[in-house]
Amino acid sequence: MTRKTPADLRSARWFAPDDLRSFGHRSRMMQLGYGEEDFRDKPVIGILNTWSELNTCHSHFRERAQDVKRGVLQAGGFPVEMPALSIDESNIKPTSMLYRNMLAMETEEMIRCHPLDGVVLMGGCDKTTPGLVMGAISAGVPMIYLPAGPMLRGNYAGKFLGSGSDAWKYWDERRAGNISDTEWQGVQGGIARSAGTCMTMGTASTMTAIADAMGLTLPGASSIPAVDSNHQRMSATCGRRIVEMVWEDLTPDKIINAGACRNAAVVAMATGCSTNAVVHLIAMARRAGVPMQLEELDELGRETPLIANVRPSGKDYLMEDFYYAGGLRALMKQIESRLDTSCMTVTGKTMGENLEGAEVYNDDVIRPLSNPVYKEGSLAVLKGNLCPSGAVIKPAACDPKFHVHEGPALVFDNYPDMKKAVDDETLDITPDHVMVLRNAGPLGGPGFPEWGMLPIPKALIKQGHRDMLRLSDARMSGTSYGACVLHMAPEAYIGGPLALLKTGDIIRLDLPNRTLDMLVDEEELAARRAALVLPEPRFQRGWGWMFSRHVTQADQGCDFDFLQSDFGRTTGEPDI
Ligand code: FES
Ligand code: MG
Repeated sequence: MTRKTPADLRSARWFAPDDLRSFGHRSRMMQLGYGEEDFRDKPVIGILNTWSELNTCHSHFRERAQDVKRGVLQAGGFPVEMPALSIDESNIKPTSMLYRNMLAMETEEMIRCHPLDGVVLMGGCDKTTPGLVMGAISAGVPMIYLPAGPMLRGNYAGKFLGSGSDAWKYWDERRAGNISDTEWQGVQGGIARSAGTCMTMGTASTMTAIADAMGLTLPGASSIPAVDSNHQRMSATCGRRIVEMVWEDLTPDKIINAGACRNAAVVAMATGCSTNAVVHLIAMARRAGVPMQLEELDELGRETPLIANVRPSGKDYLMEDFYYAGGLRALMKQIESRLDTSCMTVTGKTMGENLEGAEVYNDDVIRPLSNPVYKEGSLAVLKGNLCPSGAVIKPAACDPKFHVHEGPALVFDNYPDMKKAVDDETLDITPDHVMVLRNAGPLGGPGFPEWGMLPIPKALIKQGHRDMLRLSDARMSGTSYGACVLHMAPEAYIGGPLALLKTGDIIRLDLPNRTLDMLVDEEELAARRAALVLPEPRFQRGWGWMFSRHVTQADQGCDFDFLQSDFGRTTGEPDI
């Protein structure tokens, strides 16, 4: 391997020449109190920090950035911490997904326009992982991903609580009148009790596992709890390692290839991943020139056993237990034969080398292949006359009696109408009904909100029902569960066939055969199509305007049409 010399550094273009422009750059670094010996001839490492006081999952990131800096300095680099858009799930309305691409654009452009030789990407809360990674792939400088790590297990009255999952569960019990206000408040105070991301296998844990399996984190880094001192040491190691990666010129195109993307998908399936993984993985892969398709993910969903016994797909455990059981390295060791172990990683070693010596310490948490939680079924992709471009469902997280189901549709055009109906105890509905919410996709939502786990109507809750078949063009939280068909594409708002559905139409789901249809004849559908009036795009200005004109549909990853190119290859920088 040929190592870079100081003269080869990207930052040398800013700091080395003896001209007026470089004089300006150098004198401004000196304004910060640095001497030339601090930043010249050294890898300049951008620490992209998605900290904010409203991002409750990243509250430890200000301190962690100091650990990264320590590592960078130890290895002879020059660290610069830079704030990046902090997209949190906890407080953003209408949905954080509206801003994933904004973070991706910001990441790419911040790297592109600054004298950075390499970057440490600090993220974790759902959209921050794909946003940072997509942008950094397109920017193309060496990068290492520093996952925020899961928060500690929730705890209330001697019971463990899982992020999201237990909130929905206790909410249903509260609506059924089974728990008191005091208990409900106890759950509120106990369900999120440390820094870190949701500690179920929700979208955050799924996406950081995906980054890990793609080879973008230190091996197993995604499993370390946020407040464990191992997390601080991992952060310092990221700092040391990125400096070496710069000298080695270990750029993302040497790490992310079709094998790495497939590894990420296999690992996602084995963990019982969030359905959101589909959208983000496709978007990330396409930034790296890997044309990942829904069909490939369905195939991997069929053949990969789910071996992480972590809620919501697993029954018993949470991410903290997963870490103590050996974490992601141990899980990957179990499925090593299904992985492309020749893939390069940020360590400069192959995935196979990184997995050497990994062990499972609790085989009830990380199951052997001979005793999986489910033999298959983390994710399935459906097609049919309701979703010609696809839809997804999480078979492992729903009552099996809905795997083959026929029932009448109850259709809602918007969230407020649906919300009102589910709270109406006199609602005329049976457990066989199929609840449908439309106009909740990428353009309809807008921004593709997580509304897909439609609440079970109170009328059914009171009768003891806790699951029913639900359809939407929305996403759902990775911590959600139930017989929910999601991401129906094309979405209703742009005239997808879901827009033609009427209350009372019979819907048929056949999960084993991967079909989802409305049993309405062609002639009738054609008449409804002719009468359909499409709504105007929602935004007159601003980010929403740009989003609604360029976002792709769910099956394409919801990236902007003008950003999906191999490692950002279509853009050119002027040589100034
Ligand atoms: Fe941040 Fe769940 S809210 S990871
Ligand atoms: Mg989430």
